[in-house]
Amino acid sequence: MQYLIDTANIESIKKCCEFYPVTGVTTNPTIISKEHSSDFKNIIYTIREIIGPDKMLHVQTTASDAKQILAEAEAIRNLVGGRFFIKIPITAEGLKACALCKDKGIGVTMTAIFTQQQALIAANAGADFVAPYINRLDNIVSDGVHVVEEIVSMFKKNEVKTKILAASFKNVEQVHKVAMTGADAVTINPDLFEMLVYHPLTYYAIDDFCKDWETIYGDKTILDILGK
Ligand code: G3P
Repeated sequence: MQYLIDTANIESIKKCCEFYPVTGVTTNPTIISKEHSSDFKNIIYTIREIIGPDKMLHVQTTASDAKQILAEAEAIRNLVGGRFFIKIPITAEGLKACALCKDKGIGVTMTAIFTQQQALIAANAGADFVAPYINRLDNIVSDGVHVVEEIVSMFKKNEVKTKILAASFKNVEQVHKVAMTGADAVTINPDLFEMLVYHPLTYYAIDDFCKDWETIYGDKTILDILGK
């Protein structure tokens, strides 16, 4: 399962790309608005500069009719290049736009998916990814993980090539359970990366390693001993 970063914050993207094995960045209008900058063009261009052409960049349309969505997709693709996916919320116009974008060779992620059937219809419209919203389903006493489980199994049974990029996470348990479903990717905010990696017992173990080493070698490092 791949990990993507769900943020438009330049410093966070730099940090995540430096330390974590991320394969891309996802944004949406809410995420962009959190940067409190009116320079959308500069934000997405800078993200591409940081992540390079090979990592995926998923940017959401703000249009609601198919032709306008296509026009935005083409404009953003021309600006950012590389592995680009236009994120389109699943509506009738969105599905039409999905097919139009695919005809023009533009990658599509159908987003704001809350049901299994929305995912299957998006897949039939040619979407490369579907993005089910886990935490928002959990918030309404639905079950985000269960929805993903059924999408995974439905795609397998129907030999659907569309990938599942699960989104909207608030905790490690949700990410872990989605990983266990066999979903292809998750997009998570930078704080969640830290939560996924951190465990106090890891730091206890590191402390013990250091103490045990020092009992024999004092403050000498391996490089000191190997003479490098
Ligand atoms: O990628 C979609 C995601 O950003 C939605 O997350 O936390 O607003 O439910 P959230």
